[in-house]
Amino acid sequence: MFRFKFFVISFLIAGCCLNAQTTLWLDQLDLSVATQGNGKPGINTSVDGKKLTIAGKTFDRGFGTHAESSLLIRLDGKATKFSAWVGIDDEMKGHEPAVEFEIYGNNKKLWSSGIMHLSDKAKPVSVSLKGIKQLELVVADGRNGPYYDHADWVDARFETTGVSTLETFNPIASEPYILTPKPAAVPKINSAGVYGVRPGSPFLFRVAATGERPMTFLAKNLPKGLTIDSQTGIITGKIDTKGTYEVLLSAKNAKGSVSKKLRIESGDKIALTPTMGWNSWNCFGHEVSADKVKRAADALVKTGLVNHGWNYINVDDSWQYNRDGKDPSFKGQFRDEDGYILTNSKFLDMKNLGDYIHANGLKMGIYSSPGPWTCGGCAGSYGYEKQDAESYARWGVDYLKYDWCSYGGVIDGLPNNDLGKVPSLAFNGGGDLDKGVKPFKLMGDLLYGQPRDIVYNLCQYGMGDVWKWGDETHAQSWRTTNDITDTWASVKSIAFAQDKAAPYAKPGNRNDPDMLVVGVVGWGNPHQSKLKPDEQYLHISLWSIFSAPLLIGCDLEKLDDFTLSLLTNDEVIAVNQDALGKQGVCLDTVGELKIYAKDLEDGGKAVAFANFGREKVKISYKDFKTLGISGNQKVRDLWRQKDVAKINTSNQTLSLEIPAHGVAYYKFILSK
Ligand code: GAL
Repeated sequence: MFRFKFFVISFLIAGCCLNAQTTLWLDQLDLSVATQGNGKPGINTSVDGKKLTIAGKTFDRGFGTHAESSLLIRLDGKATKFSAWVGIDDEMKGHEPAVEFEIYGNNKKLWSSGIMHLSDKAKPVSVSLKGIKQLELVVADGRNGPYYDHADWVDARFETTGVSTLETFNPIASEPYILTPKPAAVPKINSAGVYGVRPGSPFLFRVAATGERPMTFLAKNLPKGLTIDSQTGIITGKIDTKGTYEVLLSAKNAKGSVSKKLRIESGDKIALTPTMGWNSWNCFGHEVSADKVKRAADALVKTGLVNHGWNYINVDDSWQYNRDGKDPSFKGQFRDEDGYILTNSKFLDMKNLGDYIHANGLKMGIYSSPGPWTCGGCAGSYGYEKQDAESYARWGVDYLKYDWCSYGGVIDGLPNNDLGKVPSLAFNGGGDLDKGVKPFKLMGDLLYGQPRDIVYNLCQYGMGDVWKWGDETHAQSWRTTNDITDTWASVKSIAFAQDKAAPYAKPGNRNDPDMLVVGVVGWGNPHQSKLKPDEQYLHISLWSIFSAPLLIGCDLEKLDDFTLSLLTNDEVIAVNQDALGKQGVCLDTVGELKIYAKDLEDGGKAVAFANFGREKVKISYKDFKTLGISGNQKVRDLWRQKDVAKINTSNQTLSLEIPAHGVAYYKFILSK
């Protein structure tokens, strides 16, 4: 009897479940492989880890994410239906998020929510998965930038054929691999071939050279007023007159010696090659301090980065007092009686910090806003521009990043107290343009009048086509887009926005696509960059070919071998620092492969084959004419520092195999 009962029960269980449909919740899958614009995938929580809430209604189950977001799921016939509700999470109240939820099956769009805003009621989704092998859940930005876009898939579930899970995956390889060869023991000089200085300004130039130490340095034909320290390779002094000076630098160690020309241009133009250095923002955010900055300067030297040309140490926001001042070290009087800015208690002595940085042959950068408040709520320069420019010069500042922040409120005539609350005003032309240029010109003229060279970087996210007028404000570089994050969507959208500004790039004028997001970044919440290794190769290669200012955004005390290899490839850096000063642009597109080319001073051409697609690209490339390349060419792989082909471009092809989200970065050199 007992046996019979057992048999019947087992039969019923097996029978009921064999072909039966069961519900599988989206939150039961491995969501950690999803890519998203910010934060971590929330399992049954919002992206901020809170209860999922859409338009006042809470939900127990779901996936909280942030645009741009993508989750790929392999179905292979195991699921028949997907249903959910979607919407923007209420935690973004006070902001203006906008997103579009999209569902793709076998790479074809099956459903879209249309653009959704904050407080829109959750929208229902129900799609049949018949014949769908691969499903993708996407949250795209709602066409106002991927900011504050906290998006929820709630009560999301699959009807399955009875499986207990479905496989989620990310098609981009995640194993780091190093291509940059280690520097040789023999000396090699890596400094750019040209350097600009204004007559009468203090001269500080550290010869960047790799090779075994000790090393001795020499500089032939230095103009009057300059001397080189033979032990450190640091050139100091002052040139009184305008002129072009052809100097021959040499470096010698036990293994050999080497020479390289340096053209010193004493005149009006500075920053003739893109600025290379470090900035505190992407790693420390508001938690920056003089001690951390000094340690970054030490690390720049200790890691050997300095031997590859990295030399600016830039303090971003939060060296000043802050109007909110939750952190007691931020609380204090903003300025002295004469209007000179006071530094917060994490930066006790700016002059001392400047001296410390300079003693290593490095340069110091600082940050402010033309508005009364910086973006982080610290004291800005509005109304005190003259005093600030003077303070910078007194402290030995070599670089200023000047960030729009609260200045939109000044244009709108808002009282000081309200300025921090309004979003920046975007100005596009006409009278607005003049208003937007004015504060930058004011500070630019003041910096230009100081007795030292201060490289001037405009940070207003590209408004009013800044590349067309930035030079008039005495600026050397200007941001072209909003802030970068360590996500593929961010790097990709910023990369696509560069070409329009390219004609305005030249020696002393650079389009700035924002800082590098490799290594340990996090804006105060440190984590390894979320970019996959191939995405990092693509990021560095494009910033190199764009002739972008290169500012490392990671914690230099936590550099791993892979990140260091990305930042110390002298052939990749040499393209960025090329004295001709052109900006590479996209000249050809093959599917999702974009091909960027840049003319170089020696007649060669740098070419980046950048694969923005999720599939590996394998092609025989032949359209060299489109890239402006002809004749017999030697092709050199810049990352591997190796010649890889010799081709007659009129009848031969170049075989390429480029990983998904990866790059092949080559130099073409005309040969006989
Ligand atoms: C942003 C700027 C960032 C950083 C930040 C500091 O506006 O784009 O790079 O400087 O302000 O608050």
